[in-house]
Amino acid sequence: MVKKIAEEHRVLEGLFANAIRHGESSNSEESVRESVLELREALEAHLLAEEHLYFPTIWALRPEFKSRLRAFIRAHHHFRGLIQEVTGLIESDEREEAMHILQGLTHEFKRHEASEEDCLRSLGDEILEKGAH
Ligand SMILES: [Fe+2]
Ligand SMILES: [Fe+2]
Repeated sequence: MVKKIAEEHRVLEGLFANAIRHGESSNSEESVRESVLELREALEAHLLAEEHLYFPTIWALRPEFKSRLRAFIRAHHHFRGLIQEVTGLIESDEREEAMHILQGLTHEFKRHEASEEDCLRSLGDEILEKGAH
């Protein structure tokens, strides 16, 4: 599961980069809209999977991780708000403002991913250490 989460993060990074590439070029409104919607769908699916499947599965096995994982979930509400704002701005043809917010979201989300992966790696190490005894 740790590997799956990291793989989803890499896919999301590709979709963030793709949406920004479309938004910053002279691509048609339609292609920008599509790339942003594709990102939004994948991002929302990932956040939901962490909230309802991945993280609860992990904290059922390792309750000591629950508060850290719940803190990640609290940050998700902020990301949802931002991606909704980005798609709203694209729909109302305010591409420049949408891209500005999307740039900020990209950086913040990258930091979020890195913290999650650090946390999950420490979980992996602890499990590995226990397994070795
Ligand atoms: Fe997350
Ligand atoms: Fe994540």
